[in-house]
Amino acid sequence: MKNNQLVNKVAIVTGTSSGIGRAIAIELSQKGASVVLASRDKDKITQLESEIIEAGGKALVVPTDVTDEDQCKNLIAKTVSEFGGLDILVNNAGLSMRACFHDVELSVLKRVMDTNFWGTVYCTKYALPHILESKGVVVGISSISGVTPLPGRTGYVASKHALDGFLETLRVENLDNNIQVLVVHPGFTTSNIRRSALTKSGSSQIDTPLDELKLMPAEKVAKIVVKGIIKRKREINLTVKGKLAIWVSRAFPSLAERLIYKEMKSEVGAPF
Ligand SMILES: NC(=O)c1ccc[n+]([C@@H]2O[C@H](COP(=O)([O-])OP(=O)(O)OC[C@H]3O[C@@H](n4cnc5c(N)ncnc54)[C@H](OP(=O)(O)O)[C@@H]3O)[C@@H](O)[C@H]2O)c1
Repeated sequence: MKNNQLVNKVAIVTGTSSGIGRAIAIELSQKGASVVLASRDKDKITQLESEIIEAGGKALVVPTDVTDEDQCKNLIAKTVSEFGGLDILVNNAGLSMRACFHDVELSVLKRVMDTNFWGTVYCTKYALPHILESKGVVVGISSISGVTPLPGRTGYVASKHALDGFLETLRVENLDNNIQVLVVHPGFTTSNIRRSALTKSGSSQIDTPLDELKLMPAEKVAKIVVKGIIKRKREINLTVKGKLAIWVSRAFPSLAERLIYKEMKSEVGAPF
């Protein structure tokens, strides 16, 4: 693939301080896009900005908490005032949880929903007029659990199902407007998501139950996502296990429930 396919394109990526978002920002920049880096940890995204600029790319830091509508509005406004428009919005910022519904404090579900669902809604709302003008792309980094159940993560799964429904309907509403809406369902990917996941009382779980280095690398996810943006795809499902889970869930839902339950129950520290 040529390296300049996104020259003159302006991209916002939320959740760029680690994992998949960081890798997508680097990949977009390597394809020539100017990249706006948006997450709460200013030091980490400023460091990433330096790395991108040193490598010859263009980047802008806009520290943003996506749960705050005004900060999302400001993110879009700063991007447009700095670069003159917006072509690609990658809604990637995300937070997970791990607790059974009968144990969990409801504030945990609200925080997860505010980040994964409302964060995407706020950014997309203020970005859409510019995306319509540029005939650009709205990307949502959902999850395999945007399609399937995942026990111990009711709030996370609900937020990702909501995200899927929101983005799929946005796509249909804009069928005549020439914009692209890409929904990505990653499988297990090496990142910080399990360490920052909320416990039943809302603290971070800190440990990951998985061997992170055996999962799909975030850089591989990023390459596939950016290729999907360039090829104007509508959906990407990742990892062999993830694709299989989606297929079985759609074709044989009762069987999928049993298989997913068994698999997740065998996880270290499973809460059910
Ligand atoms: N890794 C996986 O196995 C996997 C699988 C399926 C889907 N996903 C999805 O992939 C996306 C990226 O996650 P990841 O795996 O790369 O996890 P990660 O390494 O924990 O990265 C999450 C990013 O989201 C940002 N974030 C969290 N809350 C935020 C907020 N309120 N405002 C702005 N940014 C916020 C974090 O930055 P700050 O803390 O600096 O704000 C961080 O940069 C998520 O939507 C996740 O649900 C991941």
